[in-house]
Amino acid sequence: MCGIVGYAGERGAADIIYNGLKQLEYRGYDSAGIATLSDGKIHHIKRCGRVNALDGFAQKLSGKVGIGHTRWATHGKPSDNNAHPHLWGKFAIVHNGIIENYAELKEKFFAGVKFLSDTDSEVIVRLLDKFYDGDFALALNKVAALLTGSYAIVAICTDFEGLGVLRRKSPVIIGYGSDGNFAASDAPALAGVCKQISILEDGDCAILTRGKVEIFDSNLRKVQRAKKPNLATAASLDLGDCPHYMLKEIREVPASVVNTCAAFQSVESSLKQALRGVTRVIITGCGTAYNSGLVAKRYIEKFARIPTEVEIAGEFRYKDPVITSGTVIIAVSQSGETADTVEATLLAKASGAKVIAVTNAPYSSLTRCADVVVPVAAGPEICVAATKSYTGQLAALYMLAYVLAGKSADGAAENISAVPKLCKKTLECADIDSLADMCVSSRGVYFLGRDLDFAVATEGSLKLKEVSYIQSEGYPAGELKHGTLALIDESILAVVLITSARLAGKSENAVEQVLSRKGKVAVITNVESVIKRYADRAHIVKVPECEEDISPFVAAVAAQRLAYAAAVKLNRDPDKPRNLAKSVTVE
Ligand code: G6P
Repeated sequence: MCGIVGYAGERGAADIIYNGLKQLEYRGYDSAGIATLSDGKIHHIKRCGRVNALDGFAQKLSGKVGIGHTRWATHGKPSDNNAHPHLWGKFAIVHNGIIENYAELKEKFFAGVKFLSDTDSEVIVRLLDKFYDGDFALALNKVAALLTGSYAIVAICTDFEGLGVLRRKSPVIIGYGSDGNFAASDAPALAGVCKQISILEDGDCAILTRGKVEIFDSNLRKVQRAKKPNLATAASLDLGDCPHYMLKEIREVPASVVNTCAAFQSVESSLKQALRGVTRVIITGCGTAYNSGLVAKRYIEKFARIPTEVEIAGEFRYKDPVITSGTVIIAVSQSGETADTVEATLLAKASGAKVIAVTNAPYSSLTRCADVVVPVAAGPEICVAATKSYTGQLAALYMLAYVLAGKSADGAAENISAVPKLCKKTLECADIDSLADMCVSSRGVYFLGRDLDFAVATEGSLKLKEVSYIQSEGYPAGELKHGTLALIDESILAVVLITSARLAGKSENAVEQVLSRKGKVAVITNVESVIKRYADRAHIVKVPECEEDISPFVAAVAAQRLAYAAAVKLNRDPDKPRNLAKSVTVE
């Protein structure tokens, strides 16, 4: 989604906002802009492209108050005009979210008026200017009452040396710095400048000046929002010697697993209590988080023998789900802000389900609707493609499955203790790079597997397609013959995951079926008999031997490395894949 930053302080705002936007580019990067306020005038620059498209221009904007935006287009294509900030009259605004009734509002209040952009957001600035009568907070409040949809809005007004902020559904944090106050979409924007933050709640309005932060509820009654430590530090965003965050974060997989296991202990007893009497589990999430649910289903059903369904959050929220007594919903989300996941969870909660959130974001919206929050301690993840958060989620969900089975989390931690070393070894695997060459020269890639291998195949495929743009699909190995086999020819590559000796013979059938149709085959495996059988007929990536239940960690790291290598070979930017954003706070 879009990233927004606002600053009111003692230093030049443009520089500070520019740096903040750079840290928020994972939220969107198709256009960017900054507006500052000085001597009662608004100065601005906005450009199609990444934040660095503002280089040289932004620095010339004077003023100690300002707002900035990095966009992921929803309404209106990426262009200079559609970039934020939007300006009108005495105001400039930046917006993250979607104003669902923007067309009605335009028709009602501005019929026949030509707007400057094709966005839903411009109506906000027009309304602010229309309803302003000298009281900034009141104007914000009146506008908020008219808007439907989701929004995090930061506004400046030529009459006021500060910021106005509104929040509904889309996240906004307030940051307290030593020389001024901030508003931002997320903590990394304030890394190194604010040690303390507050999270605005739905309906909140805030007025910030250099020395003061006032927060109001939707009735303009003053409220307090607790100050919390900003966990994003400048050090956590340092690339070190890595060319990309994706590679840095894959290398951090071992630490993510270790830290997640350690963090689990703090919630074990509350989790045990919350899970007492659970007879059915629904796991929900989007993208990679959904894929980790596919692995978790297999853990829970194996360890606890409790029926488990995995639901794509954007689907779940629009059906009429059957929530029986004894149902627990496990909502998995790296950011804790994905709109579909949060809404699906609220729906299940309203129908009586207990809610467990599994998230890497301890202050996120998802945590506020959870009975228990199971932490994923991956640390800030900047690359749009999830890597260390996926394996962190697997670790948390493995432990959770153990607790659901009535066992102690210590036993789970013991089983997982080998994972960090195995993942490090996997990172060194030869033959991943040459497999990336095969991917790059193929028209399409199928990731195939059975059981846990299938669950990881879905994530391997998602990773490859999102960072390399190679057409790819994750498919159950046994299902290939029921239609998809028709697509196999010499231009197609099948990457078959075989990390279970138990199922090796069955997955080998898929290998044979592809080879017989002249398809190319690579096998990611740790099963000796498979390596021997296909040494001459397929490309082999030998990953470390391990227990079947922890093989998803190993296979996932191999797939992540593969996707990264393919993206680099194709000169893609793996950290910022086209058209995507990390935190999708709109539907
Ligand atoms: C976006 C990201 C994916 C992520 C998904 C869910 O689509 O690009 O990498 O898996 O959102 O995000 P969440 O924060 O809920 O895990």
